[in-house]
Amino acid sequence: MTTIETYGLDLQLAVQAAEGIARTAGALIRQAFRRPRHVEDKGVNDLVTETDRASEALASELLRHTFPTCNVAGEEGVRFSAPAQGAPLTWWIDPLDGTYNFVHGVPRFSVSLGCLDPTGSVLVGVVYDPMFDECFRAVRGGGATCNGAPIRVSSATRLRDALVASGFPASLKSSDNNTAEWAAFVPRCQGVCRMGSAALDLCYVASGRFDVYWEYGLAPWDMSAGVLIVQEAGGQVTDYEGQPFDVHKGGGLLATNRLLHDEAVSVLASARQSEKSS
Ligand code: IPD
Ligand code: CA
Ligand code: CA
Repeated sequence: MTTIETYGLDLQLAVQAAEGIARTAGALIRQAFRRPRHVEDKGVNDLVTETDRASEALASELLRHTFPTCNVAGEEGVRFSAPAQGAPLTWWIDPLDGTYNFVHGVPRFSVSLGCLDPTGSVLVGVVYDPMFDECFRAVRGGGATCNGAPIRVSSATRLRDALVASGFPASLKSSDNNTAEWAAFVPRCQGVCRMGSAALDLCYVASGRFDVYWEYGLAPWDMSAGVLIVQEAGGQVTDYEGQPFDVHKGGGLLATNRLLHDEAVSVLASARQSEKSS
């Protein structure tokens, strides 16, 4: 195995350790899945459970011990700053991506861990689905795997043969509520899914199950790991206009098998056009 070292971190060792951490947090979620849960709303339609918080506490402690020179930050508020002489790298944790599914007893959710450098480039990504026991992972420049087997994006060349996925923001009242984009994709594709975990949606593009995925307004914890996994599996990730995507900036994210990218960009443009003229 080739050593890929960045900022003094051996990325192959890092991804191996991060997989162990994601699997440990995933086991905690799996055990909690059949038990009654306490649900709170962090805002409007932005759910959190005690399991999101417990998973984040566990994953963040393990990351901090394993990577003492890195920063650690999580969706539910955990923040650890590395000592000044440490590597300027940050691990972003989504401790339970797919909280709605978890709350409703739907077994589709994941733990997502992404390690970013200060420029927003993702170096290591791990997404673990505890109910299907699938662990997707990638290292920049080192390819992508699922449970150790290499994965690759699909070879679909026409949107009408494609299975496409998306998600909705917590607040559906905003003008970016994604309904115009759904209306534009539905008649042009074979199928459109909302699976409920952005991190898994990206991994499904990476493994050729989905051909296209788009979503607006994701946070670094939702998408960092998945973006790298798509890129390392041969896919393309840009903003809605087809321009380079910046994980720190967010906005519209479009991930495809590359072959469908231009067609998907033009569907998104037509959605914006129809929104303007309505
Ligand atoms: C959500 C999921 C969902 C996506 C939302 C995210 P959470 O994350 O990834 O698929 O559509 O935009 O907020 O709240 O379950 O961690
Ligand atoms: Ca999330
Ligand atoms: Ca979450």
